[in-house]
Amino acid sequence: MEKKKIIIDCDPGHDDAIALLLAACSSKIKLLGISVSSGNQTIEKTSRNTLNICRYFDIKVPIAVGCSRPLVSEPMICEEVHGKSGLDGFDFPKYEDKFDSRNGASLIVDLLLKNEGVTVVTTGPMTNLALALRLKPEIVHHIKEIIFMGGSVDNGNVSPAAEFNILVDAEAAHIALHSGVPIKMIGLNVTRKVLVTDEIINRAFTIGNKKSIFFAKLMRVFLDNQKKAFHIVGAPLHDPVTIASLIDDSLVSYQSMNVEIDISHGNSHGRTNCDVFDYLHAPKNCLVGMNIDVKKFWNQIFNCLRSKSHE
Ligand code: BDR
Ligand code: CA
Repeated sequence: MEKKKIIIDCDPGHDDAIALLLAACSSKIKLLGISVSSGNQTIEKTSRNTLNICRYFDIKVPIAVGCSRPLVSEPMICEEVHGKSGLDGFDFPKYEDKFDSRNGASLIVDLLLKNEGVTVVTTGPMTNLALALRLKPEIVHHIKEIIFMGGSVDNGNVSPAAEFNILVDAEAAHIALHSGVPIKMIGLNVTRKVLVTDEIINRAFTIGNKKSIFFAKLMRVFLDNQKKAFHIVGAPLHDPVTIASLIDDSLVSYQSMNVEIDISHGNSHGRTNCDVFDYLHAPKNCLVGMNIDVKKFWNQIFNCLRSKSHE
């Protein structure tokens, strides 16, 4: 079977790190390159984290540093969840910086123009992708689909209305949704069903190999920080759902509907307005993730952790 060609645009970030690992370990995925966005931490830190993850697990793809700030809004980070480094909980060996010389948006453009039928996965604010779409509009013909982690059918996680990735760069998300490319949304309404708990972390520690220790150490901090910030018992493992949904087409169920981003500057700025009941009779421009097979998701994560790949 032909592998699915993908580009990941990310802002590691604990859950971004697991998404990268899942993609690298899958025999169904061909990772073409990674562009990095600011988001969970500053661009310097998210880029450094991406490079560390790729060196530590010997993931050999170009890594390009992307935009240091959103298109319009002021930058915003998420230190209360991801910590000072953006990936608190794991200490990497010291690696030399060796980024691709291109900017993140240019890497996206180049990789797309050289390939056909590529899936672009975003697990952070969509600034680099939006910029790439503006730089070379013809790239849309090379994109099979965009899958983004962001938004929610229900309420947000940084305001009553908005989810972090969309709030940070609402205008970029608006550009991606209006690109005309088939697009899938993996929002909080889905990712809040896959919760990292003490039991999950203990299971990973028990496996005791390189990937599982990495996972367990990161998830310890990810869970503890979210317990403090949101008073919750489980931490949603948001970003890997995008990759898991590509590995198994039946994992997430979708509903086609009209989705618009609130780019006005009121209390609902950054909200993904999902017209579940088709009140507006507006064009259905997005496949919105509505449900997930939780058991299958954790099987995928643990199969990845136990596999010999990237050990
Ligand atoms: C999203 O925000 C970030 O903190 C996570 O990495 C994820 O991409 C969840 O709202
Ligand atoms: Ca992320």
